[in-house]
Amino acid sequence: MIRVGVIGYGTIGQIHCRALQSVSGCELAVVADVDAGARARAQEDYGVDVVSDVEEMLQTTDVDLVDICVPTYLHEQVMVKAMEGNKHIFCEKPLARSLEEGRRLVDLSSNYAQKIGIGHVVRFTPAYVGIRQSVEGGEIGQAGVVRTFRGGSQFPVGWQDWFADVDLSGGVILDLAIHDLDFCRWLFGDVKRVYAKTSRKRTEAHLEHAMIVLRFKSGVIAHIEGSWTNLEGQFYTTIEIAGKNGLISYDSRETNPITIRTVPEQNVHVGAVAVDPYVLELQDMVQAILEDRPPLVSVADAFGTLQVALAALDSARTGQVIEL
Ligand SMILES: NC(=O)c1ccc[n+]([C@@H]2O[C@H](COP(=O)([O-])OP(=O)(O)OC[C@H]3O[C@@H](n4cnc5c(N)ncnc54)[C@H](O)[C@@H]3O)[C@@H](O)[C@H]2O)c1
Repeated sequence: MIRVGVIGYGTIGQIHCRALQSVSGCELAVVADVDAGARARAQEDYGVDVVSDVEEMLQTTDVDLVDICVPTYLHEQVMVKAMEGNKHIFCEKPLARSLEEGRRLVDLSSNYAQKIGIGHVVRFTPAYVGIRQSVEGGEIGQAGVVRTFRGGSQFPVGWQDWFADVDLSGGVILDLAIHDLDFCRWLFGDVKRVYAKTSRKRTEAHLEHAMIVLRFKSGVIAHIEGSWTNLEGQFYTTIEIAGKNGLISYDSRETNPITIRTVPEQNVHVGAVAVDPYVLELQDMVQAILEDRPPLVSVADAFGTLQVALAALDSARTGQVIEL
């Protein structure tokens, strides 16, 4: 039985703890959080041991897997501590807040004996996995153009309002749009050029919306939109991929969310399986440990996505096109 210690019992830490209840081969052993209220909630919710931080966890509790759910700007330092403790590690996306931190993690992980997986959860979301299979199976022919949207929800509420400080969170690009940057990289490979615009600093309101244009080395072009602007709105995601022989579109608000239109004219509506992707990503991590194989998303792979997201942030800040 893999003993899991979750670090950070905020929004995503709570989701992981719930998901872990459905992951076979592991048990939630301990939760760490610097906030006493969060520790009390974790203890009440799961009856587990609670500690303040990763150091105390490593000193006091026998865990096999450290699951890092702290704010983005702390990922690197907590991951380094967990590596010093020689633990298996699962870390939420994004890999880190900066290129330097990301590079350090790539270097340290290259000779690391234990497993490390990064939580790019869209790679475990059944509808998106199905879309990837359709594209790779040639259903729409060679892909050329992609359009994605993710958001519609309000500005996220976090510990000490860390999302509002772009130096800590990277804003909507590094926190939200990165999901689609990662999915597109997974499908279409390396990115060549990035151009981005964001509403940050262009409005007085606590609202952020970003538009990113990508050119892939394969020639595919993509338009990625991420939004924290709709105060009461429902969170939803969409993706459209146009290929030589057809179009795949997905809208998470629909009952049968995937539509495939091919030439000659044929419309197919497909339902998506409702399996919790957080259970699937954590199950993959636990299986990777048990089977002694790499988890789906490595540190180096997540670093590739981080580079694209940080290039988009640079482009939004400078107004320049960034070549990768
Ligand atoms: N994959 C997804 O769908 C998804 C969704 C939400 C958040 N995230 C990612 O998860 C991370 C956390 O986001 P969140 O929304 O849960 O933030 P949050 O602010 O809701 O929670 C962070 C928690 O970490 C605790 N914390 C802070 N410093 C700590 C430390 N040194 N040691 C232990 N605990 C500490 C805080 O008290 C808080 O409870 C971010 O990197 C974010 O990008 C991913």
